Amino acid sequence: MITNEMINEIRNKLDIVDIISNYVPLTPKGKNYFGVCPFHDDHSPSMSVSREKQIYTCFSCGATGNVFTFVSEYEKIGFFDAVRLLGNKVGYNLETTKSTKSKEKDEDLEIYETACKFYQNSITTSLGKNAIEYLENRKIDKETIKKFRIGLSLSKVSLTDYLLNKKISLDKLIKLGISNESGSDLFVNRIMFPLYDLHGNVVAFSGRIYNTKDTSKYINTKETNIFKKGNLLYNYHQARELLKKSDSIIVMEGFMDVIRASTIGVNNCVATMGTAFTKQHAELLKKTTNNIILMFDGDSAGEEATTSAIEVLKEFDINPKVVRLPEDLDPDEYVLKYGKDSFINVLNKPISSIDFLMQMHKNNKNMSDVVDITKYINESLKDLATCDDEILVSLTLKRLESEYNVDYKVLEDKLLSLKKSKEKTTEIVKQKTKLNKYDIASNNLVYYMLKDGKVLKKAEQDLAFIPNDNVRALFNDIIDYSHKYGVINIADFISFISNREETLRTFNQILSQDLKEKYTEEEINDYISVINSYPLKKKEKELDKLLKEEKDPLKQANILKEKLALKGVK
Ligand code: CTP
Ligand code: MN
Repeated sequence: MITNEMINEIRNKLDIVDIISNYVPLTPKGKNYFGVCPFHDDHSPSMSVSREKQIYTCFSCGATGNVFTFVSEYEKIGFFDAVRLLGNKVGYNLETTKSTKSKEKDEDLEIYETACKFYQNSITTSLGKNAIEYLENRKIDKETIKKFRIGLSLSKVSLTDYLLNKKISLDKLIKLGISNESGSDLFVNRIMFPLYDLHGNVVAFSGRIYNTKDTSKYINTKETNIFKKGNLLYNYHQARELLKKSDSIIVMEGFMDVIRASTIGVNNCVATMGTAFTKQHAELLKKTTNNIILMFDGDSAGEEATTSAIEVLKEFDINPKVVRLPEDLDPDEYVLKYGKDSFINVLNKPISSIDFLMQMHKNNKNMSDVVDITKYINESLKDLATCDDEILVSLTLKRLESEYNVDYKVLEDKLLSLKKSKEKTTEIVKQKTKLNKYDIASNNLVYYMLKDGKVLKKAEQDLAFIPNDNVRALFNDIIDYSHKYGVINIADFISFISNREETLRTFNQILSQDLKEKYTEEEINDYISVINSYPLKKKEKELDKLLKEEKDPLKQANILKEKLALKGVK
């Protein structure tokens, strides 16, 4: 167990400026240091690092934390792994202090790794002859087999027996989706493709039929704690490594497409593996680059997948480019049919997502019919209304003007009115999510509690109940921390709440409020009395509701009495 005291002790031996300098160049400016923020697409240095406070804050994306959260976010490792990593740098020996949960994960990863090696070995034996032949027929050479660690599953019990012999329990193998209840392998006679997590650990397999007529072409390991298809992108860890050079990432549907692209030297590809494109996929891609090319299968399913991926990516402010392949081909088939040069050629000529969407709007329309043309133009204008690139918008309007003989001004006016109505709805959403006075008072109070022990003491004494769940959780953590360690040290406090994601987020939000340094006792008292008035206000509202619904005058009178009693009127 790594205790909080140990974490604080380690943090005291480190200097956040030194550590972050290893990742991002920092320049001193006044009391602080500035650098380009690695947690969003930053172009000018918007991250400040404070030696005095031992924290970093990005003024643009709001990321903030201490030395451990920085390393954990940057290296994509857990908080405690970051503590271990940095602790060992300053003379601790923390390898053995893993939690049982992460020990179990390590064990599981080791089993998958062993299974992967077992499959890899099987394909090289005489029993693997047909499988190799199948792969060679598909133009997958030995080098590629090795690179992607392609293997082979054999008879019903081979892997299960092998692992049972290594003293791994059948229960475990069932849990990991390797064996079934009766002790047989779940993958039999299939070409095995290991699936990796974001760090390149094997966390599952996909097995393809190659010489049988099984109905399912691929079967996958069931989802486990460490394998969730919607959270992974095939080949992400390798594509990410390469990214500095090519600076774009190509998203495909199948891992065979990714493997094929690699055989012709295109290594910056990932695959969604046949699942719908998820927010998690978008988040992963955003961590690498904003330059994303969608290259899904050429069929209509690929078309639909492209449309919905554009929609998801839009929420993350990413405008992907699109390559559509002809003749329903997938990237793998395209390369085999037309060759490397032709593939590189289409890859270098992606269309914008607006162009793609507009092409889609032409589907099932008779483009010589005025009604359909009008529909087409209106649908296209709706897409353009959400596009920030003014030049692209203007060029597209010009094109519509000349293609369909509609006045530019008419198109522009319509676009403007669409934009206005869109702004209105976002304004309404904004108003709806506006903080109420209780939230504002709690946020401000917690902000000053973090800065001043006196405010903390007062709040602890006088405050009854914080309405917002997240802020209340944070409040309780602050009180807890102060009982254990006394004065709040922001950098240590971040460690203290590091395993409570929601609390950490709330903390970041509250700390990033731009409040004035100085405050009066009166303000603090006001915050407390506003927050403390909440239960009363709530009760009053409930009584008002009851009163409205109540028909019986006698009962109405009782409710009224109760209401007056609330206000202290006897
Ligand atoms: N997939 C799956 N289960 C299936 C079919 C597909 O999990 N029964 C996933 C696989 O991860 C595959 C992806 O969906 O990589 C795309 O499927 P598909 O286009 O059918 O496969 P291909 O990439 O064309 O594979 P192959 O060329 O080997 O037929
Ligand atoms: Mn294919």
